[in-house]
Amino acid sequence: MDAIAPRPKPAIPPAFNGETVTWVHHWTDSQFSFRCTRDPGLRFVAGQFAMIGLMVDGKPLVRAYSIVSPPWDEELEFLSIKVQNGPLTSRLQHIQPGDTVLIGKKPTGTLLTENLLPGKTLWLLATGTGLAPFMSLIREPDVYERYEHVVVAHTVREVKELAYRQYISEELPRHEFLGEILAGKLLYYPSVTREPFITQGRITDLIESGRIFTDLGLPPLSPERDRVMLCGSEAMNADVKAMLEARGFTEGSNSEPGSYVLEKAFVTK
Ligand code: A2P
Repeated sequence: MDAIAPRPKPAIPPAFNGETVTWVHHWTDSQFSFRCTRDPGLRFVAGQFAMIGLMVDGKPLVRAYSIVSPPWDEELEFLSIKVQNGPLTSRLQHIQPGDTVLIGKKPTGTLLTENLLPGKTLWLLATGTGLAPFMSLIREPDVYERYEHVVVAHTVREVKELAYRQYISEELPRHEFLGEILAGKLLYYPSVTREPFITQGRITDLIESGRIFTDLGLPPLSPERDRVMLCGSEAMNADVKAMLEARGFTEGSNSEPGSYVLEKAFVTK
């Protein structure tokens, strides 16, 4: 009897590695995370994003996704929204361990510590899935050599959308080698806008009112001592950018470092 030939896997276009999904976690009905294998040749810096996606009808369907995992991790992790009629995320949300995903071979992006001038406190301000690149940065030991404090401020509409909350507040401080490095340096500041929470309100309001500084025991933002990375919706990025520039901050880029950098949280469909 003839052996049944396995169904051929679609050929992977040369700009991508085909990686195997190893773990999927659904945070809410609109957000999930997954991990996949990592090609040993894939290099990236904490804060960068890669083009990722699936082969659909023999063609790559990809979007920009910030990498959640730190550069030292042997796997890759991503955080995604789920849009029921979104071309990519309507499919990607159904991936299971063993499935193949496309990972672009050339990560890039501006949320890099080298795009910032030296400073004392690094503020990582995110809304929604904009938290992703900061998950990588807060697990990069080099970041703690550059700053006295690293603040992750994550704003979402509802408490259940605070992805990685337990990981940041409970697991990371006990992490076998990072725990000691980040002790007393990493400050987590979650806030929620549409239901009661210890810290309620948009990051813009928490900065304007000064509440975030009082809560954390840090001085108000100044371009001399503070450095800021922004990753949120277009509206959040624009509002915080205007607030920072009114305070004398200048935008850094891959060609010239400044006192803040920003990237859009890639709301993919
Ligand atoms: P709000 O609930 O007041 O709109 P979204 O899910 O729309 O991307 O929003 C994620 C979080 O970002 C929400 O908590 C939302 O607050 C907040 N947000 C939206 N727009 C802005 C903005 N322009 N400045 C600061 N925060 C914002």
